[in-house]
Amino acid sequence: MSQVTEYSEKVLDHFSNPRNVGQIENASGVGTVGNAKCGDIMRMYLDIDENNIVRDARFKTFGCGAAIATSSMATELVKGKTVEEALKVTNKAVMEALDGLPPVKIHCSLLAEEAIHAALWDYAQKNGIMIEGLKPPVNDIEETEEFYTMQGEGK
Ligand code: FES
Repeated sequence: MSQVTEYSEKVLDHFSNPRNVGQIENASGVGTVGNAKCGDIMRMYLDIDENNIVRDARFKTFGCGAAIATSSMATELVKGKTVEEALKVTNKAVMEALDGLPPVKIHCSLLAEEAIHAALWDYAQKNGIMIEGLKPPVNDIEETEEFYTMQGEGK
């Protein structure tokens, strides 16, 4: 992929019309990750059925436009996949699906990958299962009052 210096049409589309925004009640797995440098936060909700298929994915992101676009694309990519396949949805896959991101925005796509992993980790923990290749989330953050306030909830 050649170096991208501006936002692609797809990034702009997913930023302007993000897919799957929201939350899932009683989600099978929820993962919240943050980037300490930029302060952006992403939360991913997964609904996984008894056959280990991701039936639904939703997100809430308090972050930059690229973080919103990558969250949106990440939810689209994991839907319909098995948990093992969802684990393979890397930030590179998300970026490729968006026709690239400017180099300074690559970390935003990493947040999307980490959010998927954190949600899968939560799912695995809740069900006492191991998902091969899945590591504990690195940038997992505590559920803060601040996050809910930012999302306009809990008031
Ligand atoms: Fe931090 Fe985009 S600037 S996630």
